[in-house]
Amino acid sequence: MQRTLSIIKPDAVAKNVIGEIYTRFERAGLKVVAARMKHLSQADAEGFYAVHKDRPFFADLVKFMTSGPVMIQVLEGQDAIARNRELMGATDPRQAAPGTIRADFATSIDANAVHGSDGEDTAAQEIAFFFGDDEIYSR
Ligand code: CMP
Repeated sequence: MQRTLSIIKPDAVAKNVIGEIYTRFERAGLKVVAARMKHLSQADAEGFYAVHKDRPFFADLVKFMTSGPVMIQVLEGQDAIARNRELMGATDPRQAAPGTIRADFATSIDANAVHGSDGEDTAAQEIAFFFGDDEIYSR
């Protein structure tokens, strides 16, 4: 069993597709074991994406991620990190394979519908950024 951190970004929340995205997680064998809706502050977004702070897209990324509420969840399942990344598709929706979340719901590299942890270390860090152990309901 593995866990990963997933965020449904402001564009997808505004499009009212939280349920459609959750259905994809569930059909792929991923369980939602923690969840919270939140309008991220500037400090939240800067902290969460601190690894990208020197990248040219950082300011736009923080601006976008604070533009409206997001839905944050911990997904649990076999190979959860890779499985979630397969469901999401490529970061740039123009390169995302047909049938992936980003191909179906994203409009640009910033407004790309979802975030998912990219490895075991980042998953652990990202989960701890938003959730305490007592807020994760593993079954
Ligand atoms: P995400 O998986 O949330 O991680 C960082 C985000 O930065 C990424 O998705 C994109 O939405 C955004 N971003 C914007 N420009 C780029 C870029 N050139 N390369 C990677 N990520 C980018």
